[in-house]
Amino acid sequence: MVLYRRWGSEKDFVSTYTSSIDSDKEIVEEVKIVMKAHVIELYLSGYMTKDTTKRILLAINSFHELKEGYEDIHEALEDHIIKTVGEEGGWVGFGRSRNDHVATALRLKMRKYLIEILYDLISLRKTLIEKSKTSTEILFPTYTHFQPAQPSTLAHYFLYIEDELATIWNYIYSSLLMVNRSPLGSGAIVGTNVKLDRKREAELLGFDDIIYNTISATSSRLDLINAVSNLSLLMLFFSRIAEDLILLSSMFVNIIKLPDSHVSTSSLMPQKRNAVTLEVLRSKAGECFGDLSSLFNIYKGLPSGYNLDLQEMNKHYWDCTKIVISSIEVINSILEGIEVLSFQLNDKTTATDVAEDLAITGIPYRKAYMEVANRIRAGTFISEISPKTSIYKKAVIGSPNPELIKEEIKIKENRIAEEENKLKQYEEKIIGKMNELKVIEDDLIL
Ligand code: ARG
Repeated sequence: MVLYRRWGSEKDFVSTYTSSIDSDKEIVEEVKIVMKAHVIELYLSGYMTKDTTKRILLAINSFHELKEGYEDIHEALEDHIIKTVGEEGGWVGFGRSRNDHVATALRLKMRKYLIEILYDLISLRKTLIEKSKTSTEILFPTYTHFQPAQPSTLAHYFLYIEDELATIWNYIYSSLLMVNRSPLGSGAIVGTNVKLDRKREAELLGFDDIIYNTISATSSRLDLINAVSNLSLLMLFFSRIAEDLILLSSMFVNIIKLPDSHVSTSSLMPQKRNAVTLEVLRSKAGECFGDLSSLFNIYKGLPSGYNLDLQEMNKHYWDCTKIVISSIEVINSILEGIEVLSFQLNDKTTATDVAEDLAITGIPYRKAYMEVANRIRAGTFISEISPKTSIYKKAVIGSPNPELIKEEIKIKENRIAEEENKLKQYEEKIIGKMNELKVIEDDLIL
């Protein structure tokens, strides 16, 4: 059963310790498809007969169960192919190494997840736009240093979240473009004497390009780390929003009500509405940074070229990725359902408006500011400006003024539509190429 090791029993403590079978469960389909591309390339470049190619492709399709006792999925699949096809199946090892194959499979999987995440973020951004349309006049506090700052609206807060997500969307999209490059055909480290057409292999798998240098193709994980790093930035931002919502819904502040489905009570204190979903999200952000930190720390001391340490990085890609996918869903549902309670905005939050009004009549701002500050200190400050008037007074784009917000919403809607379109076209290009691989496969199998 064991193909590559010449010592030990089939499953001993050493192979259990060093095997990646567990984390390989994540990439079964990707490893199979990479193997198909390799086998088809061996056929197209004239090394393998049509009949052998057909039998190997059928064997790959019949590989379903990832059994224990192998070093990894690559050994398990090769063993399955040889057992199914016979000695001829051994051609699959020609011109290939697990090093280029795993690097390729990881990129395919990350590509799939990144596309999913980008779509999920588009829907979250659309939720925020829709919610902001109906909340341009709903008063909402702002705070700096967590002290009441100036009046704002819920729409302004939603659009702030959208703004940050738009930035992060673009970070993730650009990491997708880097991930979508093919290491296939680069062998263990210096390529192979087998005349494989690396560019054709890349096309078959829907990659945009190849990673040229074979050392980098087989042993770099920078693009994957970069993807996790951008996903961590998303969690970093989500964690701040979670913190906002936990504080604002706390009975001390009591400005928003979280959806009932996202709070739970105490087994002892019946009055509690604990923001449990957000607390878990805040901690999962920490877990993601832990994954990123593991990736950095495993990677930093590795000499160039493949080392088995790289295998130990794999689970961290998927751990963080899955946290991100579930967190987007959670945040979406919470933002969809939050309610602003009736609350009293501190009337001093319009003190800046009063000072600005004075300055607009010609008093230098510092003098106007001091005048208002003195009144506040003396306890004689009474603002004639209501929070709502304050909001309508805002004159700069990006502020909570409902008139200006309408423009902002239109701009954002267009931008989201453009980005969604760009993503769709990108995905369709990939699907198109993968379909071509399927057509070649079906043609050979028939
Ligand atoms: N299982 C490994 C991984 O997931 C690939 C195996 C490479 N092994 C080797 N001896 N070169 O990264």
